[in-house]
Amino acid sequence: MEKISVAVLGATGTVGQKFITLLENHPFFEVRELVASSRSAGKPYREAVSWKQDRFIPETVGDLIVKTTDDKLESRILFSGMDAEVAGPAEEAYAERGHFVISNSKNHRMDKTVPIIIPEVNSDHFEMIKAQPYKGAIITNSNCSTMFLAMVLAPLHKAFGVEKVFVTTMQAVSGAGYPGVASMDILGNVIPFIGGEEAKMECEAQKILAEMKDGELIPAPFVISAHCNRVPVFDGHTESVSILFKNKPTVDRVKETLRAFKGIPQEKQLPFAPKQPILVFEEENRPQPARDAWKENGMSACVGRIRQCPLFDIKMTVMGHNTVRGAAGAAILNAETLVALGYLNEGKAK
Ligand SMILES: NC(=O)c1ccc[n+]([C@@H]2O[C@H](COP(=O)([O-])OP(=O)(O)OC[C@H]3O[C@@H](n4cnc5c(N)ncnc54)[C@H](OP(=O)(O)O)[C@@H]3O)[C@@H](O)[C@H]2O)c1
Repeated sequence: MEKISVAVLGATGTVGQKFITLLENHPFFEVRELVASSRSAGKPYREAVSWKQDRFIPETVGDLIVKTTDDKLESRILFSGMDAEVAGPAEEAYAERGHFVISNSKNHRMDKTVPIIIPEVNSDHFEMIKAQPYKGAIITNSNCSTMFLAMVLAPLHKAFGVEKVFVTTMQAVSGAGYPGVASMDILGNVIPFIGGEEAKMECEAQKILAEMKDGELIPAPFVISAHCNRVPVFDGHTESVSILFKNKPTVDRVKETLRAFKGIPQEKQLPFAPKQPILVFEEENRPQPARDAWKENGMSACVGRIRQCPLFDIKMTVMGHNTVRGAAGAAILNAETLVALGYLNEGKAK
Protein backbone atom coordinates (compact mmCIF):
# COMPACT_ATOMS: atom_id res chain seq x y z
CA MET A 1 0.00 0.00 0.00
CA GLU A 2 1.36 3.41 -0.96
CA LYS A 3 1.67 5.58 2.12
CA ILE A 4 -0.89 8.36 2.65
CA SER A 5 0.68 11.81 2.91
CA VAL A 6 -0.25 13.55 6.18
CA ALA A 7 0.41 16.97 7.72
CA VAL A 8 0.84 17.80 11.40
CA LEU A 9 -0.76 21.10 12.50
CA GLY A 10 0.80 22.57 15.65
CA ALA A 11 3.84 20.44 14.80
CA THR A 12 6.19 22.20 17.24
CA GLY A 13 3.98 21.70 20.35
CA THR A 14 3.79 18.87 22.89
CA VAL A 15 1.11 16.96 20.99
CA GLY A 16 2.65 17.84 17.59
CA GLN A 17 6.01 16.39 18.64
CA LYS A 18 4.28 13.24 19.88
CA PHE A 19 2.57 12.90 16.46
CA ILE A 20 5.96 13.13 14.77
CA THR A 21 7.60 10.46 16.95
CA LEU A 22 4.60 8.11 16.82
CA LEU A 23 4.19 8.44 13.03
CA GLU A 24 7.83 7.54 12.27
CA ASN A 25 7.69 4.34 10.15
CA HIS A 26 3.88 4.18 10.35
CA PRO A 27 2.61 1.57 7.84
CA PHE A 28 -0.23 3.77 6.46
CA PHE A 29 0.91 7.37 6.94
CA GLU A 30 3.95 9.52 6.14
CA VAL A 31 4.47 13.03 7.55
CA ARG A 32 5.21 15.27 4.56
CA GLU A 33 3.92 18.68 5.74
CA LEU A 34 4.16 20.66 8.98
CA VAL A 35 2.27 23.74 10.18
CA ALA A 36 2.87 25.99 13.21
CA SER A 37 2.62 29.69 14.04
CA SER A 38 4.35 32.51 12.16
CA ARG A 39 7.08 32.29 14.88
CA SER A 40 8.13 28.91 13.44
CA ALA A 41 7.10 29.23 9.78
CA GLY A 42 9.73 29.42 7.03
CA LYS A 43 12.33 27.51 9.09
CA PRO A 44 13.42 23.87 8.79
CA TYR A 45 11.57 21.93 11.50
CA ARG A 46 14.74 21.04 13.43
CA GLU A 47 15.45 24.79 13.88
CA ALA A 48 11.87 25.82 14.63
CA VAL A 49 11.15 23.25 17.32
CA SER A 50 12.28 23.05 20.94
CA TRP A 51 12.44 19.22 20.77
CA LYS A 52 11.50 17.47 24.05
CA GLN A 53 11.13 13.84 22.96
CA ASP A 54 13.47 11.03 24.00
CA ARG A 55 14.03 9.94 20.37
CA PHE A 56 15.83 11.94 17.66
CA ILE A 57 13.77 14.00 15.21
CA PRO A 58 13.08 11.63 12.28
CA GLU A 59 15.50 12.43 9.39
CA THR A 60 12.68 12.87 6.88
CA VAL A 61 10.89 15.40 9.09
CA GLY A 62 13.79 17.51 10.40
CA ASP A 63 14.40 19.23 7.04
CA LEU A 64 10.74 19.98 6.20
CA ILE A 65 10.05 23.70 6.08
CA VAL A 66 7.32 24.71 8.55
CA LYS A 67 4.26 26.35 6.95
CA THR A 68 1.53 28.65 8.31
CA THR A 69 -2.22 28.05 8.19
CA ASP A 70 -2.36 30.41 5.16
CA ASP A 71 -0.27 28.02 3.03
CA LYS A 72 -1.93 25.44 0.80
CA LEU A 73 -1.48 21.81 1.90
CA GLU A 74 -1.45 18.72 -0.34
CA SER A 75 -2.13 16.08 2.32
CA ARG A 76 -5.62 14.63 2.62
CA ILE A 77 -5.26 13.87 6.36
CA LEU A 78 -4.22 16.62 8.79
CA PHE A 79 -3.42 15.69 12.38
CA SER A 80 -4.13 18.74 14.53
CA GLY A 81 -2.36 19.58 17.79
CA MET A 82 -2.96 23.29 17.31
CA ASP A 83 -3.36 25.72 20.16
CA ALA A 84 -7.08 25.97 20.99
CA GLU A 85 -6.85 29.76 20.58
CA VAL A 86 -6.46 29.29 16.81
CA ALA A 87 -7.73 25.76 16.08
CA GLY A 88 -11.43 26.69 15.67
CA PRO A 89 -11.48 28.71 12.44
CA ALA A 90 -8.26 27.14 11.08
CA GLU A 91 -9.60 23.57 11.27
CA GLU A 92 -12.88 24.65 9.67
CA ALA A 93 -11.05 26.33 6.78
CA TYR A 94 -9.04 23.14 6.16
CA ALA A 95 -12.21 20.99 6.21
CA GLU A 96 -13.87 23.39 3.75
CA ARG A 97 -10.90 22.90 1.40
CA GLY A 98 -11.50 19.12 1.47
CA HIS A 99 -9.02 17.93 4.13
CA PHE A 100 -9.88 15.38 6.82
CA VAL A 101 -8.86 17.13 10.06
CA ILE A 102 -8.24 14.68 12.90
CA SER A 103 -8.18 17.04 15.86
CA ASN A 104 -7.11 17.06 19.49
CA SER A 105 -8.47 20.51 20.19
CA LYS A 106 -11.62 21.24 22.16
CA ASN A 107 -13.04 23.77 19.66
CA HIS A 108 -15.33 21.53 17.56
CA ARG A 109 -15.91 18.59 19.92
CA MET A 110 -19.44 19.61 20.88
CA ASP A 111 -20.52 20.72 17.35
CA LYS A 112 -23.71 18.90 16.34
CA THR A 113 -22.20 17.09 13.34
CA VAL A 114 -18.67 16.54 14.69
CA PRO A 115 -18.06 13.17 16.33
CA ILE A 116 -15.78 12.58 19.33
CA ILE A 117 -14.45 9.17 18.38
CA ILE A 118 -13.02 6.33 20.47
CA PRO A 119 -13.02 3.64 17.80
CA GLU A 120 -13.47 0.74 20.25
CA VAL A 121 -16.61 2.49 21.52
CA ASN A 122 -18.40 4.47 18.81
CA SER A 123 -17.06 3.86 15.28
CA ASP A 124 -20.67 4.20 14.11
CA HIS A 125 -20.41 7.94 14.93
CA PHE A 126 -18.11 8.39 11.88
CA GLU A 127 -21.40 8.49 9.93
CA MET A 128 -21.99 11.99 11.41
CA ILE A 129 -19.37 13.49 9.11
CA LYS A 130 -21.73 13.02 6.16
CA ALA A 131 -23.91 15.79 7.61
CA GLN A 132 -21.00 18.23 7.92
CA PRO A 133 -21.13 21.27 5.63
CA TYR A 134 -17.52 20.72 4.47
CA LYS A 135 -15.95 19.07 1.41
CA GLY A 136 -13.68 17.32 3.92
CA ALA A 137 -14.46 16.66 7.59
CA ILE A 138 -13.53 17.33 11.20
CA ILE A 139 -13.16 14.35 13.52
CA THR A 140 -12.13 14.84 17.14
CA ASN A 141 -10.84 12.78 20.02
CA SER A 142 -11.87 13.59 23.56
CA ASN A 143 -10.12 15.63 26.19
CA CYS A 144 -7.23 13.55 27.64
CA SER A 145 -8.87 12.84 31.02
CA THR A 146 -12.22 12.01 29.43
CA MET A 147 -10.49 9.44 27.20
CA PHE A 148 -9.64 7.02 30.01
CA LEU A 149 -12.90 7.62 31.88
CA ALA A 150 -15.01 7.03 28.73
CA MET A 151 -13.07 3.88 27.78
CA VAL A 152 -13.88 2.42 31.21
CA LEU A 153 -17.49 3.65 31.34
CA ALA A 154 -18.34 2.31 27.85
CA PRO A 155 -18.43 -1.44 28.62
CA LEU A 156 -19.75 -0.85 32.16
CA HIS A 157 -22.62 1.32 30.92
CA LYS A 158 -23.55 -1.27 28.31
CA ALA A 159 -23.54 -4.09 30.87
CA PHE A 160 -24.94 -2.45 34.02
CA GLY A 161 -26.26 1.05 33.18
CA VAL A 162 -24.20 3.90 34.66
CA GLU A 163 -26.25 6.49 36.58
CA LYS A 164 -23.70 8.72 38.37
CA VAL A 165 -19.94 9.18 38.25
CA PHE A 166 -17.73 11.03 40.71
CA VAL A 167 -14.16 11.53 39.47
CA THR A 168 -11.09 13.28 40.88
CA THR A 169 -8.11 13.65 38.53
CA MET A 170 -4.36 13.99 39.16
CA GLN A 171 -3.13 15.30 35.81
CA ALA A 172 0.43 15.36 34.50
CA VAL A 173 2.23 18.58 33.58
CA SER A 174 2.67 17.49 29.93
CA GLY A 175 -1.09 17.94 29.63
CA ALA A 176 -0.57 21.70 29.83
CA GLY A 177 1.64 21.82 26.70
CA TYR A 178 5.07 23.43 26.58
CA PRO A 179 6.31 25.34 28.59
CA GLY A 180 3.10 24.72 30.52
CA VAL A 181 2.96 25.34 34.27
CA ALA A 182 5.92 27.25 35.77
CA SER A 183 8.25 25.01 37.83
CA MET A 184 7.86 27.44 40.78
CA ASP A 185 4.13 26.68 40.76
CA ILE A 186 4.13 22.90 40.33
CA LEU A 187 7.23 21.48 42.08
CA GLY A 188 6.24 20.05 45.47
CA ASN A 189 2.70 21.26 44.87
CA VAL A 190 -0.85 20.41 43.71
CA ILE A 191 -2.91 22.95 41.76
CA PRO A 192 -6.64 22.30 42.27
CA PHE A 193 -7.73 24.02 39.05
CA ILE A 194 -7.29 23.36 35.31
CA GLY A 195 -9.15 25.93 33.21
CA GLY A 196 -12.20 24.46 31.44
CA GLU A 197 -11.24 20.85 32.24
CA GLU A 198 -14.08 19.96 34.61
CA ALA A 199 -16.73 21.22 32.19
CA LYS A 200 -15.21 19.07 29.39
CA MET A 201 -15.09 15.99 31.65
CA GLU A 202 -18.69 16.49 32.69
CA CYS A 203 -20.14 16.41 29.13
CA GLU A 204 -17.87 14.64 26.62
CA ALA A 205 -18.36 11.03 27.80
CA GLN A 206 -22.16 11.33 27.37
CA LYS A 207 -21.63 12.33 23.71
CA ILE A 208 -19.13 9.51 23.09
CA LEU A 209 -21.49 6.93 24.59
CA ALA A 210 -24.53 8.43 22.85
CA GLU A 211 -26.84 6.20 20.86
CA MET A 212 -27.27 7.07 17.14
CA LYS A 213 -30.95 7.09 16.14
CA ASP A 214 -31.93 8.26 12.63
CA GLY A 215 -28.68 10.19 12.36
CA GLU A 216 -29.25 12.01 15.69
CA LEU A 217 -27.24 11.46 18.87
CA ILE A 218 -29.07 10.69 22.09
CA PRO A 219 -26.56 11.43 24.89
CA ALA A 220 -25.96 8.72 27.49
CA PRO A 221 -28.21 9.57 30.44
CA PHE A 222 -25.70 9.71 33.31
CA VAL A 223 -24.22 12.61 35.27
CA ILE A 224 -20.55 13.18 36.02
CA SER A 225 -19.06 15.36 38.73
CA ALA A 226 -15.35 16.07 38.15
CA HIS A 227 -12.58 17.61 40.27
CA CYS A 228 -9.46 18.28 38.17
CA ASN A 229 -6.00 18.77 39.71
CA ARG A 230 -2.55 19.37 38.19
CA VAL A 231 0.19 17.35 39.96
CA PRO A 232 3.99 17.20 39.51
CA VAL A 233 3.97 14.07 37.32
CA PHE A 234 5.58 14.23 33.88
CA ASP A 235 3.28 11.97 31.81
CA GLY A 236 0.13 10.01 32.73
CA HIS A 237 -3.20 11.20 34.13
CA THR A 238 -4.57 9.31 37.16
CA GLU A 239 -8.27 9.37 38.12
CA SER A 240 -10.08 8.17 41.27
CA VAL A 241 -13.52 7.14 40.06
CA SER A 242 -16.72 6.13 41.93
CA ILE A 243 -19.69 4.84 39.92
CA LEU A 244 -23.38 4.34 40.74
CA PHE A 245 -25.07 1.69 38.55
CA LYS A 246 -28.67 0.88 37.71
CA ASN A 247 -28.00 -2.87 37.89
CA LYS A 248 -25.55 -3.48 40.74
CA PRO A 249 -22.51 -5.51 39.60
CA THR A 250 -20.03 -7.39 41.80
CA VAL A 251 -16.36 -6.43 41.77
CA ASP A 252 -15.60 -9.63 39.82
CA ARG A 253 -18.23 -8.87 37.17
CA VAL A 254 -16.73 -5.38 36.72
CA LYS A 255 -13.24 -6.86 36.26
CA GLU A 256 -14.52 -9.46 33.76
CA THR A 257 -16.44 -6.83 31.80
CA LEU A 258 -13.44 -4.48 31.55
CA ARG A 259 -11.06 -7.31 30.54
CA ALA A 260 -13.44 -8.48 27.79
CA PHE A 261 -13.73 -5.01 26.20
CA LYS A 262 -12.62 -4.91 22.54
CA GLY A 263 -13.75 -3.16 19.35
CA ILE A 264 -13.16 -2.53 15.66
CA PRO A 265 -9.44 -1.59 16.01
CA GLN A 266 -8.71 -4.98 17.62
CA GLU A 267 -10.92 -6.84 15.11
CA LYS A 268 -9.14 -5.17 12.19
CA GLN A 269 -5.73 -5.42 13.90
CA LEU A 270 -4.98 -1.76 13.24
CA PRO A 271 -1.33 -0.74 13.81
CA PHE A 272 -2.09 1.48 16.85
CA ALA A 273 -4.72 -0.81 18.39
CA PRO A 274 -3.72 -2.07 21.82
CA LYS A 275 -4.30 -5.84 22.13
CA GLN A 276 -6.00 -5.18 25.45
CA PRO A 277 -7.67 -1.70 25.46
CA ILE A 278 -8.30 -1.92 29.22
CA LEU A 279 -5.64 -3.46 31.46
CA VAL A 280 -6.95 -4.55 34.86
CA PHE A 281 -4.33 -4.68 37.62
CA GLU A 282 -4.65 -6.89 40.73
CA GLU A 283 -1.74 -5.31 42.68
CA GLU A 284 -3.07 -3.04 45.44
CA ASN A 285 -0.71 -0.15 44.52
CA ARG A 286 -1.17 -0.03 40.72
CA PRO A 287 -1.62 1.51 38.17
CA GLN A 288 1.04 4.20 38.60
CA PRO A 289 1.92 6.77 35.90
CA ALA A 290 5.70 6.30 36.20
CA ARG A 291 5.44 2.51 35.84
CA ASP A 292 2.38 1.85 33.71
CA ALA A 293 1.70 4.80 31.36
CA TRP A 294 3.67 3.13 28.50
CA LYS A 295 1.96 -0.30 28.84
CA GLU A 296 0.64 -1.42 25.39
CA ASN A 297 2.69 1.47 23.85
CA GLY A 298 0.70 4.03 25.83
CA MET A 299 -2.58 3.08 24.12
CA SER A 300 -4.47 1.33 26.96
CA ALA A 301 -6.51 2.56 29.89
CA CYS A 302 -4.99 1.05 33.05
CA VAL A 303 -7.42 0.20 35.86
CA GLY A 304 -6.77 -1.02 39.40
CA ARG A 305 -8.07 -1.01 42.97
CA ILE A 306 -11.55 -2.06 41.85
CA ARG A 307 -13.55 -2.33 45.04
CA GLN A 308 -16.90 -1.62 46.70
CA CYS A 309 -17.75 2.05 47.29
CA PRO A 310 -19.73 2.93 50.46
CA LEU A 311 -21.22 6.04 48.78
CA PHE A 312 -21.89 4.71 45.26
CA ASP A 313 -21.46 1.06 44.13
CA ILE A 314 -17.92 0.54 42.79
CA LYS A 315 -14.74 2.62 42.97
CA MET A 316 -11.44 2.26 41.13
CA THR A 317 -8.23 3.97 39.96
CA VAL A 318 -7.94 4.70 36.23
CA MET A 319 -4.72 5.91 34.54
CA GLY A 320 -3.43 6.46 31.00
CA HIS A 321 -0.78 8.21 28.92
CA ASN A 322 -2.21 11.68 28.28
CA THR A 323 -0.17 12.60 25.19
CA VAL A 324 -0.46 9.11 23.59
CA ARG A 325 -3.92 7.51 24.11
CA GLY A 326 -5.09 10.87 25.50
CA ALA A 327 -4.01 12.84 22.41
CA ALA A 328 -1.72 11.97 19.44
CA GLY A 329 -2.07 8.16 19.62
CA ALA A 330 -5.86 8.48 19.85
CA ALA A 331 -5.96 10.68 16.74
CA ILE A 332 -3.73 8.23 14.83
CA LEU A 333 -6.04 5.33 15.78
CA ASN A 334 -9.02 7.43 14.64
CA ALA A 335 -7.34 8.02 11.27
CA GLU A 336 -6.45 4.32 10.90
CA THR A 337 -10.10 3.43 11.59
CA LEU A 338 -11.32 6.07 9.12
CA VAL A 339 -9.11 4.49 6.44
CA ALA A 340 -10.04 0.91 7.41
CA LEU A 341 -13.77 1.73 7.22
CA GLY A 342 -13.34 3.21 3.73
CA TYR A 343 -14.34 6.83 4.43
CA LEU A 344 -11.18 8.28 2.93
CA ASN A 345 -11.17 6.45 -0.42
CA GLU A 346 -14.62 7.50 -1.48
CA GLY A 347 -14.81 10.91 0.14
CA LYS A 348 -17.38 11.05 2.89
CA ALA A 349 -19.64 8.37 1.39
CA LYS A 350 -18.72 4.86 2.47
N1 LIG B 1 -0.84 18.13 25.98
C1 LIG B 1 -1.84 17.22 26.10
O1 LIG B 1 -1.71 16.21 26.82
C2 LIG B 1 -3.12 17.38 25.31
C3 LIG B 1 -4.05 16.34 25.38
C4 LIG B 1 -5.24 16.42 24.65
C5 LIG B 1 -5.49 17.56 23.90
N2 LIG B 1 -4.61 18.58 23.87
C6 LIG B 1 -4.93 19.74 23.00
O2 LIG B 1 -4.05 19.73 21.87
C7 LIG B 1 -3.74 21.06 21.46
C8 LIG B 1 -2.23 21.28 21.53
O3 LIG B 1 -1.79 21.12 22.86
P1 LIG B 1 -0.23 21.13 23.25
O4 LIG B 1 -0.19 20.68 24.65
O5 LIG B 1 0.58 20.41 22.23
O6 LIG B 1 0.07 22.72 23.15
P2 LIG B 1 1.46 23.46 22.87
O7 LIG B 1 2.61 22.64 23.32
O8 LIG B 1 1.28 24.83 23.44
O9 LIG B 1 1.52 23.58 21.24
C9 LIG B 1 0.68 24.45 20.51
C10 LIG B 1 1.01 24.38 19.02
O10 LIG B 1 0.13 25.28 18.32
C11 LIG B 1 0.92 26.07 17.43
N3 LIG B 1 0.30 27.37 17.16
C12 LIG B 1 0.13 28.43 17.98
N4 LIG B 1 -0.44 29.47 17.33
C13 LIG B 1 -0.60 29.06 16.03
C14 LIG B 1 -1.12 29.68 14.86
N5 LIG B 1 -1.56 30.95 14.87
N6 LIG B 1 -1.14 28.96 13.70
C15 LIG B 1 -0.69 27.69 13.67
N7 LIG B 1 -0.17 27.02 14.76
C16 LIG B 1 -0.14 27.72 15.93
C17 LIG B 1 2.25 26.25 18.16
O11 LIG B 1 3.25 26.66 17.23
P3 LIG B 1 4.53 27.58 17.67
O12 LIG B 1 5.51 26.67 18.34
O13 LIG B 1 5.03 28.10 16.36
O14 LIG B 1 4.00 28.63 18.58
C18 LIG B 1 2.45 24.81 18.66
O15 LIG B 1 2.94 24.00 17.61
C19 LIG B 1 -4.53 21.99 22.40
O16 LIG B 1 -5.73 22.33 21.80
C20 LIG B 1 -4.75 21.11 23.64
O17 LIG B 1 -5.87 21.50 24.39
C21 LIG B 1 -3.41 18.51 24.54
